[in-house]
Amino acid sequence: MRETNFLIENNARHLWHPMAHPAEMQASPPRIINAGEGVEIVDIHGKKVLDAVGGLWNVNLGYSCEPVKEAIRRQLDELPYYSTFRGTTNSPLIELSYELSEWFREDGLTRSFFTSGGSDSVETCLRLARQYHKLNGQPERTKFVALKKGYHGTHFGGASVNGNANFRRNYEPLLPGVFHLPAPYTYRNPFDTTDGAIIAKAIARLFEDEIAFQGADTIAALIMEPVLGAGGVIVPHETFMPLMREICDRHGILLIADEVITAFGRTGAWTGSRLFGVKPDFMSTAKAITNGYYPFGAVMIADKVAQVFESNRTAAGSIGHGYTYSGHPVGAAAAVATLKETRKQNVAANAKARGEELIAGLEALKARHELIGDVRGKGLMCALELVSDREKKSGAAKDIVQKVQDVTYDAGVMVRTSGANVILSPPLIVTAEDVTRILTALDAGLSAARG
Ligand SMILES: Cc1ncc(COP(=O)(O)O)c(C=O)c1O
Repeated sequence: MRETNFLIENNARHLWHPMAHPAEMQASPPRIINAGEGVEIVDIHGKKVLDAVGGLWNVNLGYSCEPVKEAIRRQLDELPYYSTFRGTTNSPLIELSYELSEWFREDGLTRSFFTSGGSDSVETCLRLARQYHKLNGQPERTKFVALKKGYHGTHFGGASVNGNANFRRNYEPLLPGVFHLPAPYTYRNPFDTTDGAIIAKAIARLFEDEIAFQGADTIAALIMEPVLGAGGVIVPHETFMPLMREICDRHGILLIADEVITAFGRTGAWTGSRLFGVKPDFMSTAKAITNGYYPFGAVMIADKVAQVFESNRTAAGSIGHGYTYSGHPVGAAAAVATLKETRKQNVAANAKARGEELIAGLEALKARHELIGDVRGKGLMCALELVSDREKKSGAAKDIVQKVQDVTYDAGVMVRTSGANVILSPPLIVTAEDVTRILTALDAGLSAARG
């Protein structure tokens, strides 16, 4: 490794960072993170902070998960790569597909298709949804419906169903035939209410209206996150996802649950769909499937969909989709070890208990800091929405949000900001003491930003 000065001098000089302006990164280079241990990360200056971002919603078991590291090392020695395109497979992948069919059985999902990450998984769901309808004798079902504020990665299909202009405008035109419904967002919505149940019903009515307008027989799928993550941790009313499922069923529309964040315990349930008692037709997963240690994803497929593909005997049923790294043996080995640890440590239960403590603490901060307009969360995915004026709900200025992040970091905790939101998604193994540490550091950050 090159010396510290070299790294600092060359930081952001020769690369463009995702989700950032290259000029801004050059003017204000990102923090260099050099090490991780337990739930903490260490920067290049040796400063150790609690990682309340959990990598990027993915390092659920923390940075010292030895069984996952060991599985990766062992697999690298055994078979570092081989293709899974028609004709060959590998042993860890077969084991993983079995484990996943058990893991997601309660969600009605028993087949898997492997990818290199969340965007790939979303793309796979969208493509297979269209193919399903073609096989099922309804080739005109090609359109997609999605939620505003939804985040589904950045491939063209994913960006098209995305509900945030930041990920769309610079890349338009996107996929035609995509329609958006309002987000189930109690703090800001076009329905003039803060009642989640009323909002859920209002969105359901708009969905029905859009279906009638488009023609049900032209719509392939609705894609939604059970709890909207990157859009600002928007937790829908418990009736929302079941309502969406019921409407989809009535109109022959598939339901794609994008669980890239929520699939392995983050909400306090093993899946977001299960949290709301819904069985989706496809589920996109990635991130925590390998604890973030290896780029990997899995699309889970419902029996009903699988039957249509598996009973077909023509070329139309053949899957003309896949990636060089679909089913990568090292990723598969990492995932098998991660699932085992995830279950053994029962992190969903910890996410639920610690999440309740975190939300209670954030509400207490709201009572003391005018800067906080809204507190939201489920399990260990939480957000603070910062405002400059509570009455008017005007979003906090960029420099204020940055100040909260910087001072919180100085006080020993890394948090993520997105627009006016402070997003918290710590590893699911955090203790009650860790939660207190997060709240104390945030308190310092919020106090400093107030001036
Ligand atoms: C719900 C959801 N879908 C898809 C993605 C895209 O995943 P990736 O960044 O691994 O491509 C993300 C990433 O945060 C996500 O939160």
